[in-house]
Amino acid sequence: MNVVLTRPSAAPVIQALRSIGYNASTAIADLVDNSLDAKASDIKINFAYNDTDGMITIKDNGSGMTEEMLQIAMNIGSKDPRAHRGANELGRFGMGLKTASFSLGKRLSVLTKKDGVYNERCWDLDHVSECNEWQLFTSIPEKVKIQMGDIKEESGTIVCIDKLDRFMGVGRKRKLKETSFYNKVFRINRHLEFVFHSILERKEVSMFINGKEIEPWDPFMRYHPNTMEGEMQILRINDNRIKVQYFILPHASHLAEPEYKKAGGYKGWRDHQGLYIYRENRLLYFGDWMGLFPKDAASQLARVRIDLPNAADSDWQVDIKKSGINLPEDAKRRLEAISSIARKVSKDIFYFRTQPGPRNPSVKGSLNTWEQSGSEDGPQFILNRNHPILSELLKNLDDENAKLLNLYLKFVQLGSPSNIIDSPKVPEEEVQEVPDSQKELVIQFASSMMQLNVAENEEQLLNILLTQPAFDGLNRATLKAITSEANLIVSNG
Ligand SMILES: Nc1ncnc2c1ncn2[C@@H]1O[C@H](COP(=O)(O)OP(=O)(O)OP(=O)(O)O)[C@@H](O)[C@H]1O
Ligand SMILES: [Mg+2]
Repeated sequence: MNVVLTRPSAAPVIQALRSIGYNASTAIADLVDNSLDAKASDIKINFAYNDTDGMITIKDNGSGMTEEMLQIAMNIGSKDPRAHRGANELGRFGMGLKTASFSLGKRLSVLTKKDGVYNERCWDLDHVSECNEWQLFTSIPEKVKIQMGDIKEESGTIVCIDKLDRFMGVGRKRKLKETSFYNKVFRINRHLEFVFHSILERKEVSMFINGKEIEPWDPFMRYHPNTMEGEMQILRINDNRIKVQYFILPHASHLAEPEYKKAGGYKGWRDHQGLYIYRENRLLYFGDWMGLFPKDAASQLARVRIDLPNAADSDWQVDIKKSGINLPEDAKRRLEAISSIARKVSKDIFYFRTQPGPRNPSVKGSLNTWEQSGSEDGPQFILNRNHPILSELLKNLDDENAKLLNLYLKFVQLGSPSNIIDSPKVPEEEVQEVPDSQKELVIQFASSMMQLNVAENEEQLLNILLTQPAFDGLNRATLKAITSEANLIVSNG
């Protein structure tokens, strides 16, 4: 088949590329992604206002680029999105550097240094439009370069965007323009502390805006003692491991006014409920239930964290701006089940029907199946009897079965490997002093063993009791005394 090579006209393509829907915050975040991919530990973002134009620079101490790497990096579409990405890599399309920059301004200059060697390139869209060709400058205009400064470390990169036609507010009043400029900077700060919170919390990377460090904003309030944490669940979707965990934020009555306001997030409590989707620890999407449920006031305490590896990109249809995403069919049903529990608990707390007060302030919430008891003696771990699934089950059982289930759970707890401790040596034949509560437990357990025909006579019964971790420390004579006092064996003759 015959083919003819066609070169896309530069001018219209530029216009299209500039309008794929970034806003200033998502654009800057995309440039920060590149610095993180280059393993930078220090990222300095600067916004300089000037009456006629401003300048944005993002400076990192990452791995930098050789001339060849830089040339490829400046290509529109420098990587195949289907290619395998390194673990934890945030980039995907080979577009972000260009598209994000061009959505802010018309000139993109990159100065990079790798192992002491500098390289530079510059796109000027005015020039590209004029000649209608993709002509890339091999040097940065002197005036711009001076303002960019240099790179002190052996390696690093400075990305600079000016001719900020899209970023600068329109209008002639200087004061108004400047205010709108810095309001944008404020919103960008708020966006970065949110989308990179997980990465910033690890303290391996610091980010600064105009010299001020960006502090992580944790939407799940994990630091608050009244926050409830659901158990982390692992879903397997098309061979990728997806982690899902829900958090129920504290009722307003547990928060002081500024804390309440901050926790609501910049969109407010109602619009911060729902699924929070992270890709390689970077937040991609949040703010609703993605079609699984409508938003409602009572669910506003529920926030569900979903963690994807970058290998899952195509299943979840991650878009160029890293802000759009689609739920794969396989994930829907399971996320729906997890979310509906979170929503139910949120509702209960929101309407104050349950009090989330943990028994001990070091214990988080009541949604874990196991909790630390916090007491010196007795079991270290206790089963959470207020778990919503268990409560639901108990509600639907008749008294007899509810009792049996409770007894069983008590033994699961007492027999848990973490709770078994070396028991003290017990005297062989003497009958020991036993607290009433433990006597009661022996009797309950023994009578259910008899009823269920697990034990048919006293000998068998005592042998079973002696194997139970719950009765560690009690000798045969004692167990015998307790069971015969309760007349358990008589009926079986
Ligand atoms: N700050 C930086 N330090 C080192 N290399 C960089 C930096 N910024 C960009 N690069 C290089 O330029 C390439 C192109 O970046 P670009 O953002 O256009 O695409 P990407 O990150 O690969 O994918 P995406 O379109 O999803 O962002 C990157 O793959 C990386 O190799
Ligand atoms: Mg990128």
